Order: sequence, then structure tokens, then C-alpha cells
Amino acid sequence: MPLRNTPARYGSVAQALHWLVVALLVVQFTLARIAEHLPLGPGKIGTLARHKSVGITILGLALLRLAWRWFDPPPPLPPMPPWQARAARISHAAFYAILFAMPLTGWMMSSASNYPVSWFSLVQLPDLVAPDPALKKLLHEVHETISKILIALASLHLLAALKHQYVDRNGLLFRMLPWRSR
Ligand code: HEM
Ligand code: HEM
Repeated sequence: MPLRNTPARYGSVAQALHWLVVALLVVQFTLARIAEHLPLGPGKIGTLARHKSVGITILGLALLRLAWRWFDPPPPLPPMPPWQARAARISHAAFYAILFAMPLTGWMMSSASNYPVSWFSLVQLPDLVAPDPALKKLLHEVHETISKILIALASLHLLAALKHQYVDRNGLLFRMLPWRSR
């Protein structure tokens, strides 16, 4: 499979980035859920530290993905009604915005609650805002709300991909998979 996109499908770099981010998002929601149910203590702090590191990794991958997308534009959408093409473009843009907003609100929330953020204890990151309990509370709500929007958007995105593949039969799902539809 070529590294770069072709007019008919995504190349291996775009595919690898897409599926790596999907996998890391699953890890990210799992870590948040585990941390939520732990009492305050080293276990919770360690799980949240991992959540923060994976989240910063997603931020880096989002930057890399946008840079790669600029260098290697996506293939044109297969023929579909204009409203569906518009919905696809809007939802892809919303995904990119969320891939920045989730980590940045998490990072700001940690700074506002006076917890330092590091990337797997290897790189110490700067505080984005000064400690501020009211701001922490607000950012927590924003972080949680965006995570719900992400789940809703991803569910629609999955349903749309399955509908295009198996109802419209336009091969769309396999444009993002390394093998071809039979
Ligand atoms: C794409 C990346 C991320 C996703 C999808 C994500 C998702 C979540 C979710 C679903 C929760 C649970 C919210 C709740 O119901 O209370 C959460 C909590 C949290 N996240 Fe993230 N997060 C991401 C990135 C980050 C980053 C980069 C940081 C910090 C550097 C961070 C810091 C936190 C903290 C501290 C909490 C716990 C808040 C609390 O209970 O006080 N997150 N995250
Ligand atoms: C099991 C879940 C998922 C499936 C089956 C899936 C499938 C697909 C497919 C088939 C495409 C290509 C559409 C086309 O041919 O034009 C695509 C594109 C895309 N997906 Fe997903 N996806 C999933 C989850 C996610 C998640 C969780 C995100 C959140 C970041 C996401 C973000 C995107 C983005 C941003 C694009 C557009 C890529 C670009 O053109 O730059 N996907 N997805």
C-alpha cells in the first residue's frame, strides 16, 4: 500500500495515524473511567498521570496528522448527496478541533488545580494557567462535555461509515483500511 493517499483511498501514513488515535482514545477513556472509581491516593494519581501522558501523545499526533494532511490532502469523497458530503467535512473538522480541545482543556485543568503535567515522567511540561479552583471546576465541566460530544460524534461517524459501506456500497470504509473489500 502506498504511503501517500491516492485519489481512491487513504495511504498507509494517514491510516496508521487514524487508527492509532482511535486506539489511544479507547485507552484514554478507559484510564479516565478507572481513575474516576479510585479513592484519592497514589493509585488514582498514577492512573491520571498515565491519562495525562496519553492525552499529550494524542495532542502531538493531532499536530502530526494535520501537518501530514496539509502535505498529503485526503482523497475526494465518493459520490454522495451534497448534505452527506457537507456532514462528513464538518464532522472531520470537528474531530480535529476536539483532538486539540480535549488535551488542552485537560492540561489547563491540571495546571489550574496546581498539579504538574509531564509526558511519561520524561518531559516536564509548563503550567498553562495559574492555580485557580473556580477555573479548574469550569475546565473539568468543559473537558467532560467535550468528551461526551466526542463519543456522540464517533458513534455517528461509525454508523455513517457502515452505512456508506454496506447500504450505499461505495467502498468508503475500506478507503481507511489496509485491505480491500471483497
Ligand atoms: C484526547 C484526550 C483526552 C480525552 C479523550 C480525555 C477524556 C477524559 C474523560 C472522559 C475524563 C472523565 C471526565 C469526568 O467524567 O469527570 C477525563 C478526566 C480527566 N482528564 Fe482527560 N482526556 C484527555 C486528555 C487529557 C489531558 C492531556 C490531561 C492533562 C494533561 C487530562 C486530564 C484529566 C484529568 C486531571 C481528569 C480528572 C478530572 C477530575 O476528576 O478531577 N486529560 N478525561
Ligand atoms: C470504529 C470507529 C471508526 C471507524 C470505523 C472510522 C472510519 C473512518 C473512515 C472509513 C474514514 C474515511 C472516510 C472517507 O473515506 O472519506 C474516516 C475518516 C476520519 N476519521 Fe474515522 N473512524 C472511526 C473512528 C474515528 C474516531 C474515534 C475519530 C476521532 C478522532 C475519527 C476521526 C476521523 C477523521 C478526522 C477522519 C478524516 C480524515 C482526514 O480526511 O483527514 N474516526 N474514519
